[in-house]
This record gives sequence, structure tokens and C-alpha cells, in this order.
Amino acid sequence: MVCLTGAGMSAESGIPTFRGEDGIWKNHQPEELATPGAFVRDPNLVWEFYNWRREKIAKSSPNKGHKALAEMEKLYKEFYIITQNVDGLHQKAGSKNVIELHGDIWYVRCTEHCTKETSLFSLYDVPLKELPPHCPNCGALLRPHVIWFGETLPEAPLEAALELSANNDFFIVVGTSAMVQPAASLPRYALRAKVHTIEINPEPTPITDIVNEYVPANAGEALPLLLKEMKTYL
Ligand code: OAD
Repeated sequence: MVCLTGAGMSAESGIPTFRGEDGIWKNHQPEELATPGAFVRDPNLVWEFYNWRREKIAKSSPNKGHKALAEMEKLYKEFYIITQNVDGLHQKAGSKNVIELHGDIWYVRCTEHCTKETSLFSLYDVPLKELPPHCPNCGALLRPHVIWFGETLPEAPLEAALELSANNDFFIVVGTSAMVQPAASLPRYALRAKVHTIEINPEPTPITDIVNEYVPANAGEALPLLLKEMKTYL
């Protein structure tokens, strides 16, 4: 079993989605800030945006949907989550097999890749002590360890996600607008491989008409019900 999750998965934990009204920060769309160009132009603004999201995430906890997915993992021999989220809430809920396609907001890296130690490390300060933060070793700017628009996804998680999407029995898509590639293609890979695919999202998306089943509901409502059903069949 494979579950692809997006920002809607964490909406009930109080984390704003990207394309919902609450995703707009100080009149900026995320697409204007989550780019390498925006970081070069105004690193302080980009870090302020991430500081805001880090604060929201730090205050949040896994919701009923995250917890139901963690329970599902215990029921099946192979259960994987592929997530576009960078908030770490799946792991906090207890899920172990999590592929993070877009990175992890609690990690940062030196933009000059100066040493092994500062090429990638965790930084949990909330709020950040210094805006923008600098590399403790060489003084260059640090950047969040997340994928920005226009950047290529790291090969290993992407390949694992592609492989898993086409090789499973049941594919669940939760809380993604299915508009950002390459994640948006994963349900299509599953469908092409004749994998039974269901979508859970209160709003229809570009994949709603092609999935096998569409559940127009919130993750925190639908996933615990799905878990209950699964338990009765096992
Ligand atoms: P979006 O913000 O584009 O979409 C969120 C989806 O969640 C929408 O389709 C909502 O209808 C749905 N939704 C809202 N509340 C929900 C709930 N309680 N339960 C279930 N679904 C709910 O987020 P993503 O599709 O994750 O990338 O966006 C993809 C990527 O674009 C993100 O990972 C991020 C963003 O820019 C980068 O930063 C590279």
C-alpha cells in the first residue's frame, strides 16, 4: 500500500496549505518566495517566510489522519508514505516508511557547501536567532533544506516514489492539489499500472475524474474511517 500526501494532510494540524487562502503570507504567493531567484534577490524575505512556517509547524501536532496512517503501517507488511510535506508530522505520528520528496524544513545547508558538517544539519530554533541565518563555519548564507520551484528533486527519493507508485495494490492520494510535478504524476503512474487509486480531498483536483474512487472529505475524517474498514477486512 502506498499513500501520497500533500499540504491538505496537515491542514487540520493548523499548517496552512499552499494554494488555499491561508497560504498567502504578507501578500506573497508561495511560488514567489520558494524559488532560488527569490532567495538571491531577498534572502531575508525568504527566511522570514520559512521562519513563519517553522513557527506554525513547531506549534502543531499530528492530526487524526496522520495517526490513522501510522496505524495502517502496522497492519500491512509493506506500507509506504510518499509526502510532499516538509513538516515531519508523519514521523511524529509514528510512521516509519516515509519518503520525503520536498525535503525537511528542520534541516538547513550551507549555500557554499563549505564542509561536510555544514552541508546539511538540523536547526530547530524557533524563531530563528538570526535572520537570515549564516553558516557557523564559513559565514555564507544558510538555506532551508527544501525543494524550491525550478529545482530538481533528489534522485533517490524520486526513484523510490516512482517505483512504489507503479508497484503496489492500493494507492491513496490525500490532500494534494495534484498540480506540482513530478509528485502530481505519481497517481497517473499508479493508474497506468492498474493500481486501485483513491483520492481523499474536500475539493476536486485534476486527478478526481481519473481515480477509481473519490472521497470528498477531510483527511482527519476519512482516514480513520478507512482504517476502521481495513481492520474489519484483515
Ligand atoms: P496545495 O496547497 O497545492 O493543495 C492542498 C490540497 O489539500 C488542496 O487540494 C485542498 O483542497 C486539500 N485540502 C485542504 N484541506 C484538506 C483536508 N483537511 N484534508 C484533505 N485535503 C485537504 O498543496 P500541495 O498539493 O501539497 O512544494 O502542493 C504541492 C507543492 O506545492 C508543495 O509541496 C510545495 C508547494 O509549493 C514546494 O514547496 C516545492
